[in-house]
Amino acid sequence: MPMQPWFSDAKLGIFLHYGIYAVDGVPESWAFYTGDVPHDRYMRQLDGFTASRYDPRAWADLFARTGARYAVLTARHHDGVALWGTAHGDLNVVRRTPAGRDLVAPYVDALRERGLKVGLYYSHSDWNHPDYASVVHPDPPAHDGVATNPYVTPKDGVEDPAAWARYLAYRDGQVGELVERFRPDLLWFDGEWERSEEQWRIRELARRILAGNPETVLNARMLSQGDYATPEQGLPVRIPDGPWELCLTVNDSWGHQPADDRHKSVGMLVRYFAETIGMGGNLLLGVGPREDGTVPEAQAERLTGLGDWIARHADAVYGTSAGLPPGHHYGPSTLSADGRTLYLFCFDAPREHVAVRGLRTPVKRVRVVGTGAELGHVVVGGLHEVPGVTWIDAPAPGDIDPYATVLALELDGDLDVYRGKGRD
Ligand code: GLC
Repeated sequence: MPMQPWFSDAKLGIFLHYGIYAVDGVPESWAFYTGDVPHDRYMRQLDGFTASRYDPRAWADLFARTGARYAVLTARHHDGVALWGTAHGDLNVVRRTPAGRDLVAPYVDALRERGLKVGLYYSHSDWNHPDYASVVHPDPPAHDGVATNPYVTPKDGVEDPAAWARYLAYRDGQVGELVERFRPDLLWFDGEWERSEEQWRIRELARRILAGNPETVLNARMLSQGDYATPEQGLPVRIPDGPWELCLTVNDSWGHQPADDRHKSVGMLVRYFAETIGMGGNLLLGVGPREDGTVPEAQAERLTGLGDWIARHADAVYGTSAGLPPGHHYGPSTLSADGRTLYLFCFDAPREHVAVRGLRTPVKRVRVVGTGAELGHVVVGGLHEVPGVTWIDAPAPGDIDPYATVLALELDGDLDVYRGKGRD
Protein backbone atom coordinates (compact mmCIF):
# COMPACT_ATOMS: atom_id res chain seq x y z
CA MET A 1 0.00 0.00 0.00
CA PRO A 2 1.59 3.36 -1.00
CA MET A 3 1.89 5.96 1.75
CA GLN A 4 -1.26 7.95 2.37
CA PRO A 5 -0.71 11.37 0.73
CA TRP A 6 -2.02 13.21 3.79
CA PHE A 7 0.95 11.90 5.76
CA SER A 8 3.64 13.09 3.34
CA ASP A 9 1.96 16.49 2.98
CA ALA A 10 1.38 16.99 6.72
CA LYS A 11 4.95 17.91 7.73
CA LEU A 12 4.09 18.49 11.39
CA GLY A 13 2.36 16.35 14.00
CA ILE A 14 2.06 16.63 17.78
CA PHE A 15 2.96 13.67 20.00
CA LEU A 16 1.03 13.64 23.28
CA HIS A 17 2.29 11.57 26.18
CA TYR A 18 -0.62 11.83 28.56
CA GLY A 19 -1.01 9.40 31.42
CA ILE A 20 -0.84 8.78 35.17
CA TYR A 21 2.91 9.50 35.15
CA ALA A 22 1.99 13.20 34.95
CA VAL A 23 0.61 13.04 38.51
CA ASP A 24 4.05 12.80 40.18
CA GLY A 25 5.85 14.03 37.08
CA VAL A 26 7.97 10.89 36.67
CA PRO A 27 9.26 9.27 33.45
CA GLU A 28 6.38 7.60 31.60
CA SER A 29 6.29 3.89 32.52
CA TRP A 30 10.09 3.76 32.75
CA ALA A 31 10.03 5.09 36.31
CA PHE A 32 9.04 1.68 37.72
CA TYR A 33 10.73 -0.39 35.02
CA THR A 34 14.13 1.00 36.02
CA GLY A 35 13.31 0.78 39.74
CA ASP A 36 13.73 4.53 40.23
CA VAL A 37 10.19 4.66 41.61
CA PRO A 38 8.79 1.65 43.50
CA HIS A 39 6.00 -0.05 41.61
CA ASP A 40 3.33 0.57 44.25
CA ARG A 41 4.16 4.27 44.38
CA TYR A 42 4.00 4.52 40.61
CA MET A 43 0.59 2.86 40.59
CA ARG A 44 -0.72 5.14 43.37
CA GLN A 45 -0.68 7.86 40.73
CA LEU A 46 -3.92 6.25 39.49
CA ASP A 47 -5.63 7.90 42.49
CA GLY A 48 -4.38 11.35 41.51
CA PHE A 49 -5.23 11.28 37.81
CA THR A 50 -8.23 13.58 37.46
CA ALA A 51 -8.21 14.96 33.90
CA SER A 52 -10.18 17.72 35.63
CA ARG A 53 -9.47 20.35 32.99
CA TYR A 54 -9.36 18.00 30.06
CA ASP A 55 -10.31 19.99 26.99
CA PRO A 56 -9.18 18.29 23.78
CA ARG A 57 -10.79 21.08 21.75
CA ALA A 58 -8.26 23.46 23.29
CA TRP A 59 -5.54 20.96 22.34
CA ALA A 60 -6.83 20.83 18.77
CA ASP A 61 -6.91 24.64 18.59
CA LEU A 62 -3.35 24.86 19.85
CA PHE A 63 -2.12 22.19 17.45
CA ALA A 64 -3.85 23.78 14.48
CA ARG A 65 -2.30 27.11 15.44
CA THR A 66 1.07 25.38 15.56
CA GLY A 67 0.56 24.28 11.97
CA ALA A 68 0.24 20.59 12.80
CA ARG A 69 -1.92 18.44 10.56
CA TYR A 70 -2.11 15.44 12.88
CA ALA A 71 -1.58 14.40 16.47
CA VAL A 72 -0.73 11.13 18.19
CA LEU A 73 -2.02 10.37 21.71
CA THR A 74 -0.70 7.64 24.02
CA ALA A 75 -3.84 5.49 24.15
CA ARG A 76 -1.80 3.00 26.16
CA HIS A 77 1.87 3.29 27.11
CA HIS A 78 4.17 0.52 28.45
CA ASP A 79 2.58 0.88 31.91
CA GLY A 80 -0.61 -0.67 30.55
CA VAL A 81 -2.97 2.11 31.67
CA ALA A 82 -5.51 2.56 28.86
CA LEU A 83 -7.03 6.00 28.31
CA TRP A 84 -10.28 4.48 27.08
CA GLY A 85 -12.86 2.15 28.65
CA THR A 86 -11.43 -1.04 27.27
CA ALA A 87 -13.21 -4.35 27.78
CA HIS A 88 -9.81 -6.09 27.91
CA GLY A 89 -8.15 -6.00 31.30
CA ASP A 90 -9.29 -3.57 33.97
CA LEU A 91 -6.37 -1.15 33.98
CA ASN A 92 -7.89 1.95 32.44
CA VAL A 93 -8.63 5.51 33.47
CA VAL A 94 -12.39 5.01 33.32
CA ARG A 95 -12.42 2.32 35.98
CA ARG A 96 -9.32 3.03 38.02
CA THR A 97 -8.84 6.81 38.26
CA PRO A 98 -10.89 9.78 39.45
CA ALA A 99 -11.02 10.90 35.80
CA GLY A 100 -13.67 8.19 35.45
CA ARG A 101 -14.29 8.66 31.74
CA ASP A 102 -13.05 7.77 28.30
CA LEU A 103 -10.42 10.29 27.19
CA VAL A 104 -9.80 8.95 23.69
CA ALA A 105 -13.24 9.54 22.13
CA PRO A 106 -13.35 13.30 22.87
CA TYR A 107 -9.79 13.67 21.59
CA VAL A 108 -10.68 11.91 18.34
CA ASP A 109 -13.78 14.09 17.88
CA ALA A 110 -11.97 17.34 18.66
CA LEU A 111 -9.20 16.60 16.17
CA ARG A 112 -11.64 15.68 13.43
CA GLU A 113 -13.73 18.82 14.05
CA ARG A 114 -10.54 20.80 13.46
CA GLY A 115 -9.62 18.85 10.31
CA LEU A 116 -6.62 17.19 11.94
CA LYS A 117 -5.77 13.55 11.29
CA VAL A 118 -6.04 11.21 14.27
CA GLY A 119 -3.10 9.19 15.51
CA LEU A 120 -3.13 6.79 18.43
CA TYR A 121 -0.02 5.44 20.13
CA TYR A 122 -0.16 1.90 21.43
CA SER A 123 2.63 -0.02 23.12
CA HIS A 124 2.94 -3.69 22.12
CA SER A 125 4.49 -4.25 25.54
CA ASP A 126 2.61 -3.96 28.83
CA TRP A 127 4.87 -4.17 31.87
CA ASN A 128 1.88 -4.43 34.17
CA HIS A 129 0.09 -7.31 32.51
CA PRO A 130 0.34 -10.56 34.50
CA ASP A 131 0.85 -12.61 31.33
CA TYR A 132 3.42 -10.35 29.69
CA ALA A 133 6.72 -11.62 31.14
CA SER A 134 6.08 -15.12 29.87
CA VAL A 135 8.39 -15.62 26.89
CA VAL A 136 12.02 -14.84 26.10
CA HIS A 137 13.25 -12.83 23.11
CA PRO A 138 15.32 -15.25 20.95
CA ASP A 139 17.90 -12.54 20.30
CA PRO A 140 17.36 -9.81 22.88
CA PRO A 141 18.72 -6.31 22.26
CA ALA A 142 21.54 -5.20 24.55
CA HIS A 143 19.75 -2.09 25.84
CA ASP A 144 17.45 -1.63 28.82
CA GLY A 145 18.19 -5.03 30.35
CA VAL A 146 15.54 -6.69 28.20
CA ALA A 147 16.94 -10.19 28.88
CA THR A 148 16.82 -9.79 32.65
CA ASN A 149 14.15 -7.25 33.54
CA PRO A 150 11.39 -9.06 35.46
CA TYR A 151 8.66 -6.96 33.84
CA VAL A 152 9.72 -8.34 30.44
CA THR A 153 11.33 -11.74 30.82
CA PRO A 154 10.35 -14.64 33.14
CA LYS A 155 12.70 -14.67 36.15
CA ASP A 156 13.52 -18.36 35.85
CA GLY A 157 13.72 -18.17 32.05
CA VAL A 158 10.94 -20.76 31.77
CA GLU A 159 8.45 -19.86 29.08
CA ASP A 160 4.69 -20.12 29.43
CA PRO A 161 3.19 -20.23 25.93
CA ALA A 162 -0.39 -20.28 27.24
CA ALA A 163 0.19 -17.04 29.15
CA TRP A 164 1.72 -15.48 26.05
CA ALA A 165 -1.29 -16.50 23.97
CA ARG A 166 -3.53 -14.78 26.55
CA TYR A 167 -1.37 -11.68 26.35
CA LEU A 168 -1.62 -11.54 22.57
CA ALA A 169 -5.39 -11.98 22.77
CA TYR A 170 -5.52 -9.03 25.18
CA ARG A 171 -3.35 -6.86 22.90
CA ASP A 172 -5.34 -7.86 19.82
CA GLY A 173 -8.57 -7.12 21.64
CA GLN A 174 -7.41 -3.64 22.61
CA VAL A 175 -6.04 -2.79 19.17
CA GLY A 176 -9.30 -4.06 17.68
CA GLU A 177 -11.23 -1.68 19.93
CA LEU A 178 -9.07 1.25 18.85
CA VAL A 179 -9.64 0.47 15.18
CA GLU A 180 -13.38 -0.14 15.51
CA ARG A 181 -14.27 2.66 17.89
CA PHE A 182 -11.98 5.42 16.71
CA ARG A 183 -10.91 4.51 13.19
CA PRO A 184 -7.50 6.18 13.62
CA ASP A 185 -5.73 7.49 10.53
CA LEU A 186 -2.44 6.45 12.08
CA LEU A 187 -1.51 3.78 14.62
CA TRP A 188 1.83 4.56 16.24
CA PHE A 189 3.18 1.39 17.82
CA ASP A 190 6.04 1.20 20.31
CA GLY A 191 7.81 -1.27 22.60
CA GLU A 192 8.52 -3.67 19.74
CA TRP A 193 12.14 -4.32 20.81
CA GLU A 194 11.18 -6.75 23.57
CA ARG A 195 9.97 -9.56 21.30
CA SER A 196 10.62 -10.84 17.79
CA GLU A 197 8.36 -10.23 14.82
CA GLU A 198 7.14 -13.84 15.12
CA GLN A 199 6.46 -13.58 18.84
CA TRP A 200 4.42 -10.43 18.29
CA ARG A 201 2.55 -12.05 15.37
CA ILE A 202 3.06 -8.81 13.52
CA ARG A 203 1.68 -9.95 10.18
CA GLU A 204 -1.58 -11.18 11.67
CA LEU A 205 -1.94 -7.97 13.66
CA ALA A 206 -1.38 -5.81 10.56
CA ARG A 207 -3.83 -7.89 8.57
CA ARG A 208 -6.52 -7.38 11.19
CA ILE A 209 -5.92 -3.63 11.45
CA LEU A 210 -6.01 -3.17 7.68
CA ALA A 211 -9.11 -5.36 7.38
CA GLY A 212 -10.79 -2.85 9.73
CA ASN A 213 -9.46 0.15 7.81
CA PRO A 214 -7.10 -0.39 4.86
CA GLU A 215 -5.99 3.25 5.00
CA THR A 216 -4.48 3.07 8.49
CA VAL A 217 -0.89 4.29 8.44
CA LEU A 218 1.47 2.14 10.57
CA ASN A 219 4.87 3.23 11.87
CA ALA A 220 8.02 1.11 11.62
CA ARG A 221 7.57 -0.26 15.11
CA MET A 222 5.19 -2.63 13.33
CA LEU A 223 8.47 -4.10 12.03
CA SER A 224 8.08 -5.61 8.56
CA GLN A 225 4.57 -4.16 8.30
CA GLY A 226 5.48 -0.53 9.02
CA ASP A 227 4.93 2.21 6.46
CA TYR A 228 7.55 4.68 7.66
CA ALA A 229 10.70 5.04 9.74
CA THR A 230 10.72 6.72 13.17
CA PRO A 231 14.11 8.23 14.02
CA GLU A 232 13.89 9.54 17.58
CA GLN A 233 15.40 12.57 19.38
CA GLY A 234 18.09 13.28 16.77
CA LEU A 235 18.08 14.44 13.16
CA PRO A 236 19.28 11.79 10.75
CA VAL A 237 22.42 12.83 8.89
CA ARG A 238 21.54 10.94 5.73
CA ILE A 239 18.01 10.87 4.32
CA PRO A 240 16.23 7.70 5.53
CA ASP A 241 14.84 5.41 2.83
CA GLY A 242 11.16 5.98 2.16
CA PRO A 243 8.75 8.04 4.25
CA TRP A 244 9.89 8.99 7.74
CA GLU A 245 9.08 11.07 10.80
CA LEU A 246 11.41 12.46 13.45
CA CYS A 247 9.90 12.31 16.92
CA LEU A 248 11.33 14.94 19.24
CA THR A 249 10.53 16.24 22.71
CA VAL A 250 10.15 19.99 23.32
CA ASN A 251 12.21 19.65 26.52
CA ASP A 252 14.00 16.39 27.39
CA SER A 253 10.92 14.40 28.44
CA TRP A 254 7.98 12.79 26.68
CA GLY A 255 5.59 13.08 29.60
CA HIS A 256 5.03 15.98 32.00
CA GLN A 257 8.10 16.43 34.21
CA PRO A 258 7.93 19.84 35.87
CA ALA A 259 11.61 19.68 36.89
CA ASP A 260 12.68 19.45 33.26
CA ASP A 261 13.13 23.01 32.06
CA ARG A 262 15.47 22.22 29.19
CA HIS A 263 13.04 23.45 26.58
CA LYS A 264 14.30 23.91 23.06
CA SER A 265 14.04 27.50 21.87
CA VAL A 266 11.67 28.49 19.08
CA GLY A 267 14.75 29.03 16.89
CA MET A 268 15.92 25.49 17.56
CA LEU A 269 12.50 24.07 16.78
CA VAL A 270 12.29 26.03 13.51
CA ARG A 271 15.68 24.61 12.60
CA TYR A 272 14.76 21.00 13.48
CA PHE A 273 11.58 21.41 11.49
CA ALA A 274 13.21 22.95 8.42
CA GLU A 275 15.98 20.34 8.40
CA THR A 276 13.39 17.57 8.67
CA ILE A 277 11.13 18.73 5.84
CA GLY A 278 14.20 19.56 3.75
CA MET A 279 15.01 15.86 3.90
CA GLY A 280 11.43 14.92 3.09
CA GLY A 281 10.37 13.92 6.61
CA ASN A 282 7.70 14.94 9.11
CA LEU A 283 8.37 16.31 12.58
CA LEU A 284 6.35 14.76 15.41
CA LEU A 285 6.82 17.16 18.27
CA GLY A 286 6.29 15.89 21.82
CA VAL A 287 4.02 17.58 24.33
CA GLY A 288 3.47 16.39 27.89
CA PRO A 289 0.20 17.64 29.39
CA ARG A 290 -0.24 17.92 33.15
CA GLU A 291 -2.45 15.33 34.82
CA ASP A 292 -5.40 17.72 34.62
CA GLY A 293 -5.03 17.81 30.84
CA THR A 294 -3.59 21.29 30.39
CA VAL A 295 -0.49 21.93 28.31
CA PRO A 296 2.26 23.70 30.31
CA GLU A 297 2.77 27.31 29.23
CA ALA A 298 6.46 26.81 28.41
CA GLN A 299 5.49 24.17 25.85
CA ALA A 300 2.49 26.04 24.42
CA GLU A 301 4.72 29.09 23.85
CA ARG A 302 7.23 27.04 21.88
CA LEU A 303 4.44 25.56 19.80
CA THR A 304 2.88 28.88 18.91
CA GLY A 305 6.31 30.35 18.15
CA LEU A 306 6.96 27.57 15.68
CA GLY A 307 3.42 27.96 14.35
CA ASP A 308 3.90 31.67 13.68
CA TRP A 309 7.02 30.95 11.65
CA ILE A 310 5.25 28.20 9.71
CA ALA A 311 2.29 30.49 9.01
CA ARG A 312 4.67 33.06 7.51
CA HIS A 313 6.26 30.36 5.34
CA ALA A 314 3.37 28.00 4.59
CA ASP A 315 4.12 27.83 0.85
CA ALA A 316 7.62 26.57 1.56
CA VAL A 317 6.25 23.91 3.92
CA TYR A 318 3.01 22.15 3.00
CA GLY A 319 2.77 19.97 -0.05
CA THR A 320 6.50 20.27 -0.71
CA SER A 321 9.07 17.50 -1.04
CA ALA A 322 12.76 17.26 -0.16
CA GLY A 323 14.81 19.92 -1.93
CA LEU A 324 18.43 19.98 -3.07
CA PRO A 325 20.84 17.28 -1.98
CA PRO A 326 23.70 18.50 0.25
CA GLY A 327 26.45 20.46 -1.46
CA HIS A 328 24.40 23.03 -3.39
CA HIS A 329 23.19 25.38 -0.66
CA TYR A 330 24.24 25.85 2.98
CA GLY A 331 20.95 24.93 4.54
CA PRO A 332 17.88 22.84 3.85
CA SER A 333 15.55 23.41 0.94
CA THR A 334 12.19 22.14 -0.29
CA LEU A 335 10.57 21.86 -3.70
CA SER A 336 6.96 22.80 -4.49
CA ALA A 337 4.58 20.06 -5.64
CA ASP A 338 4.68 21.30 -9.25
CA GLY A 339 8.48 21.20 -9.15
CA ARG A 340 8.75 24.83 -10.27
CA THR A 341 9.63 26.60 -7.03
CA LEU A 342 12.70 25.84 -4.97
CA TYR A 343 12.66 27.17 -1.40
CA LEU A 344 16.02 27.87 0.24
CA PHE A 345 16.12 28.13 4.04
CA CYS A 346 18.75 30.47 5.49
CA PHE A 347 19.25 30.21 9.26
CA ASP A 348 21.77 33.02 9.47
CA ALA A 349 21.24 36.45 7.96
CA PRO A 350 22.88 36.23 4.52
CA ARG A 351 25.75 38.66 3.89
CA GLU A 352 26.06 40.11 0.41
CA HIS A 353 24.81 36.99 -1.41
CA VAL A 354 23.25 33.60 -1.16
CA ALA A 355 25.12 31.36 -3.59
CA VAL A 356 23.66 28.21 -5.12
CA ARG A 357 26.03 25.81 -6.85
CA GLY A 358 25.31 23.23 -9.52
CA LEU A 359 21.89 24.57 -10.46
CA ARG A 360 21.25 23.89 -14.15
CA THR A 361 17.67 25.12 -14.34
CA PRO A 362 17.49 28.85 -15.06
CA VAL A 363 15.94 30.96 -12.32
CA LYS A 364 13.21 33.37 -13.40
CA ARG A 365 12.64 35.29 -10.20
CA VAL A 366 13.66 35.25 -6.54
CA ARG A 367 11.55 36.58 -3.69
CA VAL A 368 11.60 36.46 0.08
CA VAL A 369 8.77 34.29 1.37
CA GLY A 370 6.83 36.11 4.03
CA THR A 371 7.64 39.65 2.91
CA GLY A 372 7.43 39.19 -0.87
CA ALA A 373 10.55 41.33 -1.49
CA GLU A 374 12.14 40.60 -4.86
CA LEU A 375 15.86 39.89 -4.99
CA GLY A 376 18.21 40.21 -7.95
CA HIS A 377 20.31 37.29 -9.10
CA VAL A 378 23.03 36.56 -11.60
CA VAL A 379 24.74 33.41 -12.83
CA VAL A 380 28.52 33.63 -12.91
CA GLY A 381 30.91 31.23 -14.63
CA GLY A 382 30.24 27.66 -15.65
CA LEU A 383 31.87 25.66 -18.40
CA HIS A 384 30.57 22.81 -20.54
CA GLU A 385 28.42 20.57 -18.35
CA VAL A 386 29.35 22.38 -15.12
CA PRO A 387 26.83 25.15 -14.40
CA GLY A 388 27.91 28.48 -12.94
CA VAL A 389 27.07 29.74 -9.47
CA THR A 390 23.72 31.48 -9.00
CA TRP A 391 24.41 34.55 -6.86
CA ILE A 392 21.29 35.92 -5.20
CA ASP A 393 21.39 39.36 -3.57
CA ALA A 394 21.12 39.19 0.20
CA PRO A 395 17.73 40.37 1.52
CA ALA A 396 17.55 43.78 3.18
CA PRO A 397 17.60 43.70 7.02
CA GLY A 398 13.83 44.32 7.11
CA ASP A 399 13.26 41.15 5.09
CA ILE A 400 15.28 38.91 7.41
CA ASP A 401 13.20 36.53 9.53
CA PRO A 402 14.28 36.20 13.17
CA TYR A 403 14.45 32.40 12.89
CA ALA A 404 14.91 31.39 9.26
CA THR A 405 14.58 33.47 6.11
CA VAL A 406 13.20 31.57 3.13
CA LEU A 407 13.93 32.47 -0.49
CA ALA A 408 11.61 31.24 -3.24
CA LEU A 409 13.37 30.59 -6.56
CA GLU A 410 10.95 30.42 -9.45
CA LEU A 411 12.47 27.95 -11.88
CA ASP A 412 12.23 28.03 -15.64
CA GLY A 413 11.70 24.28 -16.01
CA ASP A 414 12.02 21.18 -13.87
CA LEU A 415 14.74 21.21 -11.26
CA ASP A 416 17.97 19.88 -12.74
CA VAL A 417 21.19 19.83 -10.75
CA TYR A 418 24.77 18.95 -11.55
CA ARG A 419 26.18 16.34 -9.16
CA GLY A 420 29.63 15.86 -10.66
CA LYS A 421 33.15 16.73 -9.57
CA GLY A 422 34.11 19.12 -12.34
CA ARG A 423 36.84 18.60 -14.87
CA ASP A 424 39.75 16.21 -14.17
C1 GLC B 1 10.61 5.24 23.48
C2 GLC B 1 10.16 5.16 24.91
C3 GLC B 1 8.86 5.77 25.16
C4 GLC B 1 8.41 6.86 24.28
C5 GLC B 1 8.81 6.65 22.85
C6 GLC B 1 8.46 7.76 21.94
O1 GLC B 1 10.30 4.13 22.74
O2 GLC B 1 10.09 3.84 25.38
O3 GLC B 1 8.75 6.09 26.51
O4 GLC B 1 7.03 6.81 24.33
O5 GLC B 1 10.15 6.37 22.77
O6 GLC B 1 9.00 7.56 20.68
